[in-house]
Amino acid sequence: MALVVTPPRRLSGTITVPGDKSISHRAALVGACAVGDTVIENFLFGADCLATVRCLKALGVKITGDNGTLTVHGRGLAAWREPDGVLDCGNSGTTMRLLLGLLAACPFFAVLTGDRSLRRRPMDRVAGPLRAMGASVWGRGEGSRAPLAVRGGSLRGIDYRLPVASAQVKSALLLAGLFAQGPTVVREPVPTRDHTERMLRFFGVPVEVDGNAVTVPGGVTPLQGRFLRVPGDISAAAFFLVAASIVPDSEVTIRDVGLNPLRTGVVDVLRAMGGDVRVVPKGEWNGEPVGDITVRAAELRGTVIEGSLVPRAVDEIPVLAVAAAVARGKTVIRDAAELKVKESDRLAAMARELRRLGARVEELPDGLEIAGGRPLVGAVCHGHGDHRVAMALAVAGLVARGTTVVRGARAIGVSFPGFGGILHSLRVE
Ligand code: S3P
Repeated sequence: MALVVTPPRRLSGTITVPGDKSISHRAALVGACAVGDTVIENFLFGADCLATVRCLKALGVKITGDNGTLTVHGRGLAAWREPDGVLDCGNSGTTMRLLLGLLAACPFFAVLTGDRSLRRRPMDRVAGPLRAMGASVWGRGEGSRAPLAVRGGSLRGIDYRLPVASAQVKSALLLAGLFAQGPTVVREPVPTRDHTERMLRFFGVPVEVDGNAVTVPGGVTPLQGRFLRVPGDISAAAFFLVAASIVPDSEVTIRDVGLNPLRTGVVDVLRAMGGDVRVVPKGEWNGEPVGDITVRAAELRGTVIEGSLVPRAVDEIPVLAVAAAVARGKTVIRDAAELKVKESDRLAAMARELRRLGARVEELPDGLEIAGGRPLVGAVCHGHGDHRVAMALAVAGLVARGTTVVRGARAIGVSFPGFGGILHSLRVE
């Protein structure tokens, strides 16, 4: 499947984007540990979150859904049963890592696998500390790569310093820690998205945060089902924030977007580049800040993205690389080696594909150096089986002379079914 993009005259309109992927996963998983119905409005019915639903169903959790609302009919973690077959996590690292944390607390045997991309991604970062808590976890080779096998049971809480900043690893350990004996402390090198902490608090768990250390008590009493509404995904909004910034004369408003401060790095980066981005906060949905964002086209200039900004914009770096290619001057992205072990090697993929479109991009060991301002020219490029790379290239196509064809656009369904339709609806010809 390919996406064909040509430059519009401008982009204009008001849109909403699908529910946040990270929050949707957590809502389904925590709901499945609770007793009673958890109703999740604006759940992301994308392939990744549906992989979480499929795995939970295979574990005996009853889940129903229609019209954008998912209902998890939870009976507590103790009611989960050994799956008959292999749990297929598809392309979803969040499914595999967070579920592994919960399976570590289940007294049965389970096997998890995923697609070729997921089977290449390192799982030792989760398997190692879960073993230290008392679970048995097996994986392939040095990185404990999937397929993974796990036999869980009684766990003891740990005090663990994360070697890499990863919300997925932090979350897996916090979820396991809920069912362990004694508290679990996770210490982060730099803060990462805290959706698990906020979700658990919303379900009544007394999560403590002290600097970069997060503590959950062990052996919590069964959680009760809740009503939740998932904010729009700022990582999906990001494609339109960049698109409206770089297509001259554009103005786009995105309503009801999640504004968790550990996710809004894209707004900070665009503003640092001279972008015209206005944010109107509207309140909180289940402990997550929500608001509207309006962006107008602006002359962008190069910037530096590094340090604690990187986890706050980790999934937006592919599309920010597009903004950098259009901006005047040099952009340097550092401290972003984690991008090499995402759904694709996003540094290599973006360097290669942006060069195909005529940009000057150098790959660094932990980032990219982009000499912006050179006119982009349409070409046939490849999404590398990675939803965010494919959408970022479609955004580049909006300002590339002629026609850009993004091959491998099927991957977009992982996080943003409907992306092509929304992009089309904003076009003014
Ligand atoms: C996610 C955390 C991030 C992000 C991923 C979703 C999450 O990964 O890239 O898309 O939901 O916790 P890491 O925590 O591994 O950096």
